Amino acid sequence: MVLATSFFASLLLVATAKPMGPRTMVVHESRAAPAEGFVQSAAAPAEQELTLRIALKQNNIFGLQTELYKVSDPVSEIYGKHLTLEEVAKFVKPTNDTLAAVSSWLSDNNINAKPVTPAGDMLEIKIPVSQANDLLSAQFSVFTHSKTGKTIIRTLQYSLPAPLTQHVEFFHPTTIFAPPLNSRPKFVAGRAKRATPGSDTLPDSCTSTMTPACLQLLYNIPTAPATQKSNTLGVAGFIDQWANQEDLTAFLASFRKDINSSTTFALETLDGGSNPQNRSQAGVEAYTIGIATGVPVTFISAGDDNSDDSLGGFLDMIHLLINDTNRPSVLTTSYGFTAETDIPLSVAINLCNSYMQLGALGTSVLFASGDGGVSGGIPQTGCGIYIPAFPATCPFITSVGSTGGINQFPGISEVGSSFTSGGFSNYFPIPDYQAKDVAAYFAFIDSLGTIPEDGRFNRSGRGFPDVSAQGENIEIVVDGQFGTVAGTSCSSPIFASVVALLNDELVAAGKPTLGFLNPFLYSSAGRAALNDVMFGDNPGCATDGFFGNTGWDAVTGLGTPNYTALRTAVGL
Ligand SMILES: *[C@@H]1O[C@H](CO)[C@@H](O)[C@H](O)[C@H]1NC(C)=O
Ligand SMILES: *[C@@H]1O[C@H](CO)[C@@H](O)[C@H](O)[C@H]1NC(C)=O
Ligand SMILES: *[C@@H]1O[C@H](CO)[C@@H](O)[C@H](O)[C@H]1NC(C)=O
Ligand SMILES: *[C@@H]1O[C@H](CO)[C@@H](O)[C@H](O)[C@H]1NC(C)=O
Ligand SMILES: *[C@@H]1O[C@H](CO)[C@@H](O)[C@H](O)[C@H]1NC(C)=O
Ligand SMILES: *[C@@H]1O[C@H](CO)[C@@H](O)[C@H](O)[C@H]1NC(C)=O
Repeated sequence: MVLATSFFASLLLVATAKPMGPRTMVVHESRAAPAEGFVQSAAAPAEQELTLRIALKQNNIFGLQTELYKVSDPVSEIYGKHLTLEEVAKFVKPTNDTLAAVSSWLSDNNINAKPVTPAGDMLEIKIPVSQANDLLSAQFSVFTHSKTGKTIIRTLQYSLPAPLTQHVEFFHPTTIFAPPLNSRPKFVAGRAKRATPGSDTLPDSCTSTMTPACLQLLYNIPTAPATQKSNTLGVAGFIDQWANQEDLTAFLASFRKDINSSTTFALETLDGGSNPQNRSQAGVEAYTIGIATGVPVTFISAGDDNSDDSLGGFLDMIHLLINDTNRPSVLTTSYGFTAETDIPLSVAINLCNSYMQLGALGTSVLFASGDGGVSGGIPQTGCGIYIPAFPATCPFITSVGSTGGINQFPGISEVGSSFTSGGFSNYFPIPDYQAKDVAAYFAFIDSLGTIPEDGRFNRSGRGFPDVSAQGENIEIVVDGQFGTVAGTSCSSPIFASVVALLNDELVAAGKPTLGFLNPFLYSSAGRAALNDVMFGDNPGCATDGFFGNTGWDAVTGLGTPNYTALRTAVGL
């Protein structure tokens, strides 16, 4: 029956794709207006070439999700048996029907397509605006971002021939108006006070400057170098942010006198990315080298030579890593979008499912949860606290929030940071691994009665962050100057470093790396190995923000790492 239907569908397609009869075009994606901040300035030049991505329907993405949970859940018999690229491809490759339908449509229109993913579920085509307008019944136009003057070519609507709608997820970039990425923390110059390691209690200097020594004490992070060269930590860098060797050396010489200050990192580039050494930005990413002692670090730098300025780099980087034989066992990304709605649902789901693939292949994917209260120093309307950030809300990544407040309150070790973003997704439903936690948290905030029940957050959405780590007064070196930064973009590399060190010990013991972390973190063993951060809210929005609580909360997730306890929990 299935065969007959699809056979009939492909016959139909061939018939309708012929130039003789009028095609029935169906609107595939549309929006009423460009996103705020963009204005339509002119029609796009007819001859200008567009590079478009076509996301094809994957044959069994839910099957892959089932496999991912089987290999990531500590109670499963096949826990840690990560999938091979071929096994993943079996789930994500399009069906023969999809391939046949799309390729005959493209070849009827004299368009060459090249696959950009190993499973062939995403294609790239290059066609002039005039042809794109015709092919997709679209009106590609020039839109200007008012604040930066940057121009992009987009359409507010596009259509597909009716028989193709079941085979194509989306064309990209078409209706997306992604704003510039949100990440760069504000650097505050100032010479650090040194924390002396070796004592059990945290030195007071850690209150004003959080150094590697402070973090090692606070989280019981070992200082002995990792031994396994195959276990690498990937640090994602996007447009205009670089890792600087001189600054790293100055940092290590000051704060890690016990290791070689010339320790360096490998570089992997894409989309024309580079890592110029004459420029430096708040390079918190290089921090991983100061914490994940001896773990080989790869700085993965995406340039802006991609299909759409900001999101294109995310897609390209993940496709590169899926196809990479030296895939890192941990990937940390300190960049994201302030609002989930900056990205169309179709694209968000596709990107999130790419992280699912990376998790199934055995890579732990961590993201900064986002700085909701303050973004680039500019307070967001309503403190931004109810605005879910992306990719932080993707259920297949580990979202890391920020803490601070060391030694500030008697008997309380850490508190959630005022800027840390958390909340509930409008795009992704609650995953099973956190269902009980989210229900308990709703019961808690209902009992407080301070958050009005007026639909300001989504009670069916995936809760984030999952965990947290220090993100205030983080000591770094920028352009030779010592100073501090704050933000969840510091917290994610710190938590990722802890995971990388655990992986090193696991590999040394002949065990598999941790892979997708969340089912483990939310398990009773996982959560018991984290320091539950019970306090923290957004003081600027006293009646608006989420509150900390025992157990999981939408400020600090399950809490911060305790390396000693995590070691035991992962079976070391
Ligand atoms: C799909 O096509 C390939 C290559 O032509 C073939 O080997 C495979 O059997 C086909 N799969 C199905 C389900 O028809
Ligand atoms: C994947 O990697 C292989 C070699 O490692 C390369 O030949 C192939 O072109 C890559 N595929 C994609 C889609 O990038
Ligand atoms: C420190 O690291 C650099 C770069 O890897 C290396 O050239 C140098 O020999 C190392 N120094 C020592 C003392 O190990
Ligand atoms: C850094 O070097 C590159 C390439 O040599 C050059 O294009 C760029 O302008 C330089 N930047 C600064 C800040 O000097
Ligand atoms: C709330 O989240 C669910 C699950 O992701 C989603 O289906 C629904 O559309 C969301 N509601 C709103 C108002 O965005
Ligand atoms: C961290 O874990 C160790 C071992 O389980 C435990 O002794 C210690 O008290 C924990 N630290 C904190 C701050 O809970």
